[in-house]
Amino acid sequence: MKIGIIGSGYVGLVTGACLAHLGHTVTCVDHDENKIRTLKTGKVPFYEPGLSEMVLTNVEAKRLSFVGDIAKVVNRCEVLFICVHTPSRANGEADLTFVDKVARQIAKNLRKYCLIVEKSTVPVETGEWVFRTIKRNIKKGVHFDVASNPEFLREGSAIHDFLKPDRIVIGVANERSEKIFRELYGPLKAPMIVTDIKSAELIKHASNSFLALKISFANGLSRICDAVGADVEKVVLGMGLDPRIGAQFLKAGIGFGGSCFPKDLSAFLHISEQLGARFELLAGVLRINEFQAKYFVQKIQNTLRSLKGKTIAVLGLAFKPDTDDMRSAPSIPIIQMLQREGVRIQAYDPQAMEKAKLIFKNVTLAANAYDAAKGAHAVAVLTEWSEFLNLEWSRLKRQMTGKFFFDGRNMFSAPEMKKHGFNYTSIGRPSA
Ligand SMILES: NC(=O)c1ccc[n+]([C@@H]2O[C@H](COP(=O)([O-])OP(=O)(O)OC[C@H]3O[C@@H](n4cnc5c(N)ncnc54)[C@H](O)[C@@H]3O)[C@@H](O)[C@H]2O)c1
Repeated sequence: MKIGIIGSGYVGLVTGACLAHLGHTVTCVDHDENKIRTLKTGKVPFYEPGLSEMVLTNVEAKRLSFVGDIAKVVNRCEVLFICVHTPSRANGEADLTFVDKVARQIAKNLRKYCLIVEKSTVPVETGEWVFRTIKRNIKKGVHFDVASNPEFLREGSAIHDFLKPDRIVIGVANERSEKIFRELYGPLKAPMIVTDIKSAELIKHASNSFLALKISFANGLSRICDAVGADVEKVVLGMGLDPRIGAQFLKAGIGFGGSCFPKDLSAFLHISEQLGARFELLAGVLRINEFQAKYFVQKIQNTLRSLKGKTIAVLGLAFKPDTDDMRSAPSIPIIQMLQREGVRIQAYDPQAMEKAKLIFKNVTLAANAYDAAKGAHAVAVLTEWSEFLNLEWSRLKRQMTGKFFFDGRNMFSAPEMKKHGFNYTSIGRPSA
């Protein structure tokens, strides 16, 4: 099939490359000229394992191409995916400016039937609004359908998640749209959940909110564990083996970040309020999450006492491992809070250094973990990169002037780190 992807960021590019990999002919559009120029040279402007190779293979096979102008694409395609960003406004509401602009651009240029799919994460009832916007602006007599096909991929394992999904959710208004999706996703062996458009939109917001809730639950629990000297990892293990609860995402740490959970929860809370059905639980999930970064800084402060003039080696900046994405990463408020207390920060991340340069002021970015540790009073792990599991602890410790180790991701065990000579503190677990 001939597919157009509008917005070639994380979701758009992965969607485009994977659909080309499945044999479709895909054109990815982006209004960011630099991005299109980079993509045309065969380079991917962000880090996602396996994506560069997949893009290159499909460009060479002439199944994948890139353009800057949406007008060149719309009439060549049977399906158009809207994959633009939907950031938060200051009040938490989803900013749909980019979706609105794309809907108008499609309407202005479309001259033949097309299925227009919202893949961006949007509040319930956006599909109806997109339909009305296009209807108002399209040439008379041109038919189209709008559908919802929320995306569940995770950065860091995006290709695997797209090609081997747990489920494909499609929200459609008629059989014609459903038939197009069945042909499009035919090669993927995954259950297809077919719903109305509003239910599909809600599945995405509800799924992300529930996952975030599990993280905040574990974080709330971690503070109780700290207060009584219990071990949150053991508590969640004991809970998670119950299949009704499940172990995944029951993980205490410095809180969730990234481009999805914080914004999607805020948008879901906001739309629930607008609908007169405020989802109070979500406010609690967000509050716990916001506090968790402060809680970690308090722990550092309680252990080191005075922070002024201290140097801390921060290991990990990205919001999670296997990505260079720094959007709403918990490392940002944590580093800023520490700097306000007079701490000097020396940081290292395996992939996010380029993006970090644009965010942080007065942070020394080191070439590796050992350089970051030079002269440091303490180490703080903020992202659980697997390469940190293989660090030579004696070498790292030799670089330091102190022996304090703060594990914001509960990556290591207290007895192990004590054996290496560290004064070790983690989240919701007894210190060593
Ligand atoms: N990143 C994820 O892990 C993830 C996962 C699932 C869903 N989502 C959702 O998918 C959507 C996109 O997220 P993302 O992370 O890919 O965002 P992104 O910022 O990486 O990409 C969006 C792209 O759209 C482009 N764009 C904006 N307006 C345009 C226009 N009028 N014409 C052409 N291009 C335009 C931007 O230049 C940018 O490259 C969001 O709604 C997000 O919530 C993201």
